[in-house]
Amino acid sequence: MAQDAMKEKVAEAALAYVEAGTIIGVGTGSTANKFIDALTAKKDAILGAVASSNATAERLTANGIRVIDLNQALREVASLAVYIDGADEFDPARCLTKGGGGALTREKIVAAAADRFVCIVDQSKQVQHLGAFPLPIEVIPMAEAPITTAVRQLGGEPRLREGFITDNGNIIIDVHGLVITDGLALEDQLNALPGVVTNGIFAHQRATVILMATPEGVVTL
Ligand code: A5P
Repeated sequence: MAQDAMKEKVAEAALAYVEAGTIIGVGTGSTANKFIDALTAKKDAILGAVASSNATAERLTANGIRVIDLNQALREVASLAVYIDGADEFDPARCLTKGGGGALTREKIVAAAADRFVCIVDQSKQVQHLGAFPLPIEVIPMAEAPITTAVRQLGGEPRLREGFITDNGNIIIDVHGLVITDGLALEDQLNALPGVVTNGIFAHQRATVILMATPEGVVTL
């Protein structure tokens, strides 16, 4: 099965986690886009969706799905029922790296506001240790130089994502060459650097469930 078809299958499987009468969180990226398209069939059953990026908000709206600002949503409900999003990598503990599309900060905010995080991936995202996919860090522009230095001291090779500005008006530094064995510790260590908005390790906000598409079908991990 081609990768695109696998993304469609796993996106459809995620619909089983969408309950009527709830507000859900929706991620960003090509797999999340497939989910948005599948969600159109259930759009009248849910109260609406909180988007993790401007691009996702636009696609939800184009599909006729009500987009709700997170703060407004949390005045209507105590928490989002579920957050559904892709990932760049996942490890055996269901820790993730995310942010290949640059939406990591809003993705982490929405994931943290949800009761469950259902991560939808194809089997190419499965790894033993996170880090082969360059780790994105969203950085306030004036802190580029000190954070570049700090990342080098941690053993990574930082590269500015050229010509890219996040939805929040910040830059992304992609860190190459990491082998992440303690995601919780590195997530905290990077977030403690002044000027870091968020890093793309989702260990604190790891997936509750991973739905992985394979050529034989969708596997629940
Ligand atoms: C967006 O910023 C990312 O976190 C995506 O969730 C991640 O890059 C997965 O994207 P794909 O589904 O396009 O592989």
